[in-house]
Amino acid sequence: MDTTTKSTTYTEFEKDVISGLKAYPKHLSSKFIYDQKGDKLFQDIMAMPEYYLTECEYNILKNQSPIIAEKFNLKEGFDLIELGAGDGKKTKLLLSHLSEIGANFTYLPVDISQNVLDELGSALENELPKVNFELLQGSYFQVLNQLSSYNKRQKVILVLGSNIGNLMHKDAIDFLKKIEENMSSEDLLFMGFDQKKHPQIILDAYNDPDGITEAFNKNLLERINKELDGNFQLDHFFHWETYDPETGTAKSYLVSQIDQNIKINKLDLDVSFKAWETIHTEISQKYDDETVEWLASQANLGIDKVFESDTGYYKNYTFKKL
Ligand code: AVJ
Repeated sequence: MDTTTKSTTYTEFEKDVISGLKAYPKHLSSKFIYDQKGDKLFQDIMAMPEYYLTECEYNILKNQSPIIAEKFNLKEGFDLIELGAGDGKKTKLLLSHLSEIGANFTYLPVDISQNVLDELGSALENELPKVNFELLQGSYFQVLNQLSSYNKRQKVILVLGSNIGNLMHKDAIDFLKKIEENMSSEDLLFMGFDQKKHPQIILDAYNDPDGITEAFNKNLLERINKELDGNFQLDHFFHWETYDPETGTAKSYLVSQIDQNIKINKLDLDVSFKAWETIHTEISQKYDDETVEWLASQANLGIDKVFESDTGYYKNYTFKKL
């Protein structure tokens, strides 16, 4: 055996694959699902009838934008910063209302993908020509560190889509703290949180019969095959979803159908699976008001107002510094 060590710098994805597939039980982080194909599959998920989250939040913004906007400093103006803007489909409802009432503000959509931002930029120019905007490319982390430079007037920070649900409570608190550190007393955080509800409704949202969610989850294995020269056979794994109504945690797994050995050549890694062995890939946390209040308070934030969907399935909250 060759014992010489060559120093290698691994990408974040490579590090996650190495540590996650060497661990027991195995895991991979859902944040690596989102390459071009993963983005497209997530768009397909948002269009599924079972994935109620998108429509609920859309309706909150469609019906309640006027009362949401009452929270903003319409007189002196504000910066509206959106983390993870995507196609802006929901945000445009709020922008359209703000534009109609002649509010003085700049919209600053942040996204990791320049591609997504360019498309959003041209859509805004066409559909909402009166809205001032500035596109910000970067990860949440990079941008959070720049947030405090927007300090000339009120900041309103938007995080839609219950994206916080991918984080375990501890990491969610760290994320909220990062935001809070960069807020002043007048600033607002506006955030979506998917709520606890009948467990079957949640399971159905993450278990569609057409296998879109399965393909989304398996995109992790596909990326390992493509980018790291792996040889996963996708049909030797299946998608499995669980929901624990006590904790409100939905979990996604990939389950091995058979005993199998996988090679990931670029990492010089061999991974063996027993039949029924799992890879945990994602959590999608569901909340209630008490849990949201507790998370916020751990980050020195307090709930200011709650905006509920007609069904109560989903809520957006405004938060202020305590
Ligand atoms: C983008 C994190 C909000 O967890 O509901 C959708 C991602 N995963 N279907 C979610 C997802 C499976 C989604 N978030």
